[in-house]
Amino acid sequence: MKIEVLTLFPNMFDGVMSESMMWKARDRGLLDFSARDIRDYSGDKHRKVDDSPYGGGGGMILKADVLLRAIEALEPEADTPVILLSPQGRLLTHEAAAELSRRERLILVCGHYEGVDERVRELAISDEISIGDYVLTGGELAAMVLIDAVVRLIPGVLGAEGAQQRDSHADGLLEGPHYTRPPEVRGLTVPEVLTSGHHAEVERWRRQQALKRTWLRRPELLERAELSEADREYLAQLAAGAAD
Ligand code: ADE
Repeated sequence: MKIEVLTLFPNMFDGVMSESMMWKARDRGLLDFSARDIRDYSGDKHRKVDDSPYGGGGGMILKADVLLRAIEALEPEADTPVILLSPQGRLLTHEAAAELSRRERLILVCGHYEGVDERVRELAISDEISIGDYVLTGGELAAMVLIDAVVRLIPGVLGAEGAQQRDSHADGLLEGPHYTRPPEVRGLTVPEVLTSGHHAEVERWRRQQALKRTWLRRPELLERAELSEADREYLAQLAAGAAD
């Protein structure tokens, strides 16, 4: 996958994109990443990229001509998603990340200041994504969150194939608890089933723990999750106080 970011702060990406899984993805040739400075397209000797809003009011607006030049310089194909990170976009979810992870190329545009000239949206943006209902000072951190969520889903990026399938949200549920050695920590032991060696029992327990955690913490997720008859029975028992 090729990801190109347009930003006023390309150096912000250096650390995140040079460590851990993002670095491994690049090192393995699964991700071609670049961050380009919007100022390079200002066409102005002072490298000016923003101006005050028509109609007055505070803040500065990223200029349309500058951003359009920056986007056009990347020569997006007709089907390349050109995504603006903004608090007004659709929310980033597991499904959105999974869909984007199947694309060959993404262009991410990071807004800053009060916003971008509306004509950029109309002429060059194909999608707008928010990482949550709060406002960041710019789209850079949001772009990094999106990149991480998307790139880890590209086949071959994470070592253990299939481990992502059990991730929280991958099947609409939160994941249950995990344990590793030692068997006892300050009097707290590991649930016996996990050391029993009964694979089917372990899977049943994991499923029930995922259902329980979701029921306790994010019950609204259960409305959209795919649930089996056994899942529904277990949830009914939980609600009746007849299961733990
Ligand atoms: N830019 C500013 N706030 C943002 C948010 N919540 N999501 C994406 N981009 C943003």
